[in-house]
Amino acid sequence: MTLAIIIMAAGKGTRMKSTRPKVLHTLAGQPLLGHVLHTAATLNAQHTTVVTGHGAEAVETCVAGINGAARCVRQMPQLGTGHAVQQAVPILPDTGTALILNGDVPLIAARTAQALVQACAGQHLALLTIELQDASGYGRILRNAAGVITGIVEHKDASEEQRRIREVYTGVMAAPTAWLKGAVMNLRNDNAQGEYYLTDVVAQAVADGLKVTSAQAPSETEVLGVNSPAQLADLERRHQLQQAQALMEAGVRLNDPARLDVRGRLTCGTDVEIDVNCIFEGTVHLADGVRVGAHCVIADALIGEGAVIHPYTHIDGAGQPVQVGPRSLVGPYARLRPGAQLGAEVHIGNFVEVKNSQLADGAKANHLAYLGDSTVGQWVNFGDGSITANDDGAHKHRTVIEHDAHVGSNCVLVAPVTVGAGATIGAGSTIGKNAPAGQLTVARAKQVSLSGWVRPTKEKKAP
Ligand code: UD1
Ligand code: CA
Repeated sequence: MTLAIIIMAAGKGTRMKSTRPKVLHTLAGQPLLGHVLHTAATLNAQHTTVVTGHGAEAVETCVAGINGAARCVRQMPQLGTGHAVQQAVPILPDTGTALILNGDVPLIAARTAQALVQACAGQHLALLTIELQDASGYGRILRNAAGVITGIVEHKDASEEQRRIREVYTGVMAAPTAWLKGAVMNLRNDNAQGEYYLTDVVAQAVADGLKVTSAQAPSETEVLGVNSPAQLADLERRHQLQQAQALMEAGVRLNDPARLDVRGRLTCGTDVEIDVNCIFEGTVHLADGVRVGAHCVIADALIGEGAVIHPYTHIDGAGQPVQVGPRSLVGPYARLRPGAQLGAEVHIGNFVEVKNSQLADGAKANHLAYLGDSTVGQWVNFGDGSITANDDGAHKHRTVIEHDAHVGSNCVLVAPVTVGAGATIGAGSTIGKNAPAGQLTVARAKQVSLSGWVRPTKEKKAP
């Protein structure tokens, strides 16, 4: 059966007190609307229509970036949720089911939406409802003595008695598309907010003899909307806790599930341990036995078996995923940038930065170093405080350090340059020409001592 999804995303979101359209605020690193679009994409709908209005251009750019097949219709001005759906229905087919989702309710699960579509079955009006301890602000579900739904009353229009009802409308409904097309055109705006309420279609369904059914949302988190920064932060924590629980169920050991942030997709092998306050972004895989220390930020990376990422390490593979080989040790305070590829048992120590460089098995750069645009062979030891000067101001050049070479402390390798296999570079050398294999190369001023030299003096003042 034809399924058409309508996502309402035109509202201003006044309570966010932000110039950014509400649906573009991010949860787990992704716009609220992005979450809804991704979920919608799993429902095999023939039509996905997003109603835009406030900040329409930015919202439409976001939609196009996530689902090129989704269509946007503009609602100008924004006269309520019923008015929003009025803009969308003319481009929908006359058969099948229409599912209405909210751009500001990001965590609705696909199976929950699917269950509602099934409850509708192309012929009933199906509402997703939930019982809340504090229902204030929400539309209340009205039922008669037999428990049959008779309507929805908005909080602002509700009587004292109606406000005591705990069952609320979540903002998600499924309806026969053909019927919905007619029903939204009959809406009136004679209510407390002077808006066209989509929720008034429920009373119309009752009048039309259409059966109104409901499905209960399985969890509050799925149907909570974002209207303020506090609600956004609350939902973020709920979502993060759910992700942490899923990781723990899969065997990942988290020192504190409340102090983990996954903003993307994190997959883990067995016996993975993650200490507190780590952030994972993009796509990250931690293989069997990986340990991640406290306060690490890891984006787009593949971390090999048994590798240890020590505290305060920043790994960012944006564009070119960072690879850390098996049993490598990285950090504390290390920085791996795009194109860093470490083989097995590589050691990258404190205050070492690696960019667009391949380090073969067993290579080490343990302290205060920079390796950029370089190819580093097996067992190379890159000394403390040494760097590759890879950028001549206009172009980047490569440095090749062949296997088993030892580069002493505080050296500058001026690219393009090659240090041959087994070569040793004396500490403090500036190497601008290739250093031959197997030899000691030193390029620094000779040390001199002047015996007759007298240090200039000035009168010392008492402190
Ligand atoms: C709505 C429901 C309420 C329900 C609640 C659940 C109505 C009248 N009320 O209230 O019963 O309990 O959701 O969260 O539907 N939007 C537009 N154009 C508009 C107005 C809103 O596209 O003219 C969009 C908003 O961007 C948002 C969604 O519709 O994504 C809901 O609008 P909002 O103003 O937040 O409705 P609520 O007052 O929360
Ligand atoms: Ca809302």
